[in-house]
Amino acid sequence: MKIRFVSVLIFISLFFVFSCEDEEIKGDLSHISYDPTPYLLDIPSHFPQMPIPSDNPMTQEGVELGRHLFFDPILSVDSTVSCSSCHDPALSFTDGRSASIGVGGARGKRNAMSLINIGFTQNDFFWDGRAKSLEKQALDPVTDPLEMNNTWENVISKLVKHPKYPQMFREAFGISDTKEITKELATKAIAQFERILISKDSKFDLVKQGKAQFDDFEQFGEKMFFDIDPDVPDAECSHCHNTPFATSDDYFNNGLFPATSLQDFPDLGRGKVTGNLLDNGKFKATTLRNIFYTAPYMHDGSMSTFDEVIQHYATGGQTSNFKDNLINDIKKKNFSDFEILCLTAYIKTFEDTVFINNPKFQSPF
Ligand code: HEC
Ligand code: HEC
Repeated sequence: MKIRFVSVLIFISLFFVFSCEDEEIKGDLSHISYDPTPYLLDIPSHFPQMPIPSDNPMTQEGVELGRHLFFDPILSVDSTVSCSSCHDPALSFTDGRSASIGVGGARGKRNAMSLINIGFTQNDFFWDGRAKSLEKQALDPVTDPLEMNNTWENVISKLVKHPKYPQMFREAFGISDTKEITKELATKAIAQFERILISKDSKFDLVKQGKAQFDDFEQFGEKMFFDIDPDVPDAECSHCHNTPFATSDDYFNNGLFPATSLQDFPDLGRGKVTGNLLDNGKFKATTLRNIFYTAPYMHDGSMSTFDEVIQHYATGGQTSNFKDNLINDIKKKNFSDFEILCLTAYIKTFEDTVFINNPKFQSPF
């Protein structure tokens, strides 16, 4: 009886010893080879170089891991929402809604931003510029209660146990144990994927490379956009939406609200980030690339068509002392229907369907 009891005890303790060892072996990744291949970005000569942080060099393996994480609802609390739920490649990485919908149908406060050429951003991220880098930006959606409503601890505990991710983290970052999987590495990979989202095959780009020519309407619209001909009315757009990315990356008030004081904005925007009262009501002048895929428009999604946007500018926006002077200047030009048609034709040359359909930007699942 006694002997039997003791052997059962020995058996149980051996079982525990072995199962613990087994766990440790599971966490060990050093047997998987780590030999990352640099990812070479294809950046045309009319673009500047992309700023890439020295502690997050681009690799094939990093981009592939980032692509998986970007399209995987595993990041959200109930595994229903992925980054791509709100940044859909078919809509130039937006969601077609005025305000985004997160887990459980939670309605967000702002319009989802396009991620087209996002790696070239020099002046911070979000409509109000509150994130300094893509790596930092990607931390936010996971814990935002109106987006993925998760905790990073929960995400990491799922990634560590996942059949594929530990190996992918090893291959991308050379970690030797699943314990080394962190939110910092996850967001580094996501940022690497975002940096490959380069739009460079629009008609605008082909013209820049001498491979195509603008037609007469587009040419007239280009003159309006850039103020390059005294005989053509200046639409002032290029001051805030400059090429080649069709954004200046800067923050302005383009007259969306009839504000009577600097506190009088439903969303304070840039001012809430800088603490400077004069920045209240300013938002990022976003890119016009693939703008016909990204409706509705503006940080609050308040304009549902491109024509509505053009009418907004042509009529000088809302009456307010705080909007940029350029917006009043646009109104003074009193555009004819022909001029609006040409301006629209020019902005249409920023359309890039190669970007939309690029197989490298699609879901791996
Ligand atoms: C529920 C919808 C939703 C989800 C999920 C979501 N986003 Fe966003 N994204 C938005 C909205 C809305 C904004 C603008 C928010 C703001 O300015 O406050 C935004 C902004 C961004 C920006 C800033 C773009 C710029 O030009 O400054 C980046 C980059 C981005 N998201 C990447 C991601 C990544 C990566 C994920 C996944 C980890 C993600 N998003 C998940 C809706 C979403
Ligand atoms: C003074 C700077 C300024 C000028 C000039 C300007 N814009 Fe904008 N534009 C902005 C800002 C800022 C936003 C975002 C505003 C917001 O959401 O609060 C914006 C937004 C837009 C959007 C919507 C983008 C999106 O992703 O929702 C379009 C389209 C647009 N502008 C087109 C134009 C055109 C066309 C012209 C010339 C007729 C022009 N803009 C002139 C600053 C400017």
